[in-house]
Amino acid sequence: MSNILNSDKVVALRWHDGPDYGRLEMVDQTRLPAVFEYLSYDSAAGVADGIRSMVVRGAPAIGVAAAYGVALEALRLQSQAGAVFDSALDTGFEVLAQSRPTAVNLFWALDRMQRCRSLHVQDSPSQLAAALLTEAKAIHEEDVRINQQMGEHGAVLLADGAHVLTHCNAGALATAGHGTALGVIRSAVAAGKRISVIADETRPFLQGARLTAWEMVQEGIPVTLITDNMAGHLMAQGEVDAVIVGTDRVAANGDVANKIGTYMVAVLAARHGIPFYVACPLSTIDLSVASGDQIPIEERASSEVTGFRETQWAAAGVQVRNPSFDVTPAELVSAIITEKGVVHSPDEDKLRALFD
Ligand code: MRU
Repeated sequence: MSNILNSDKVVALRWHDGPDYGRLEMVDQTRLPAVFEYLSYDSAAGVADGIRSMVVRGAPAIGVAAAYGVALEALRLQSQAGAVFDSALDTGFEVLAQSRPTAVNLFWALDRMQRCRSLHVQDSPSQLAAALLTEAKAIHEEDVRINQQMGEHGAVLLADGAHVLTHCNAGALATAGHGTALGVIRSAVAAGKRISVIADETRPFLQGARLTAWEMVQEGIPVTLITDNMAGHLMAQGEVDAVIVGTDRVAANGDVANKIGTYMVAVLAARHGIPFYVACPLSTIDLSVASGDQIPIEERASSEVTGFRETQWAAAGVQVRNPSFDVTPAELVSAIITEKGVVHSPDEDKLRALFD
């Protein structure tokens, strides 16, 4: 496939100023790779819908989208009188908070927008709206920088010639740019290492097959697609040198919630003595939850398991489970790669120290 972006960068979200009050554009990730199209958003409810339906997905990207959702709502309402404006903006925050439960970056971003709001409590609605937009843009820009820092810290862990397995999509599409797990791979490649990627297809939503494989193909980074149930065989054959994944929430003890199937990969990696790395910004570490069993796990529609899009292959009426994430215990995690450096064998003391 040729590079349909006309650029070497995959940009999942972009902000457009004016002509009215501005808009957020997000690549519709439900249609990739067949269709590459930006959808336009101008309200908190619209952005929440985009998060829920997975037009935008991936923990950091969800956080950035939510921040813009708040700013859009404030801009949209700025001509309203103070009390009406305040209560409608509260509703905007609430609608966004309800969109998806597992990725803590969503709540981290909303908290940050609330802090910005409280700093401007004396301002007019239009002044507050401008301040919220500035904050959302800052969150957006910081995420790209953080991913690049993470990439540099993580790249040293990957040997020249390594075959690196990844699960789901923790790439530029899942962030404001560069990516977390794929960011480490991109940085290693930029440093001159010959890395080849093994992408799990990632049932049921196929983020690996549809998104990770696409991102790698766009950039000419060698990638081999496998179905999820092939990972153990390849590891047993000595074809995997390292695993690297992203995460939606890390608990204080180092347990890691990520896309369903990650736990299985981590167990297999431990069985075969393969390092299992997790790349994430500090905004994904949630010290308020003690361990992974307290992380809310999203359950999605049964239709994602019984088929894909219009094609349904399972018997109508069958009972289905569709937990969208699982938890990998800290003991299976070789290291967590953050913008502040690499935490080997993560535990609570080491994670807390990152925030000092
Ligand atoms: O359901 P998704 O596609 O939002 O799940 C995404 C993941 O599980 C990613 O691995 C995680 O958010 C990290 S993205 C840098």
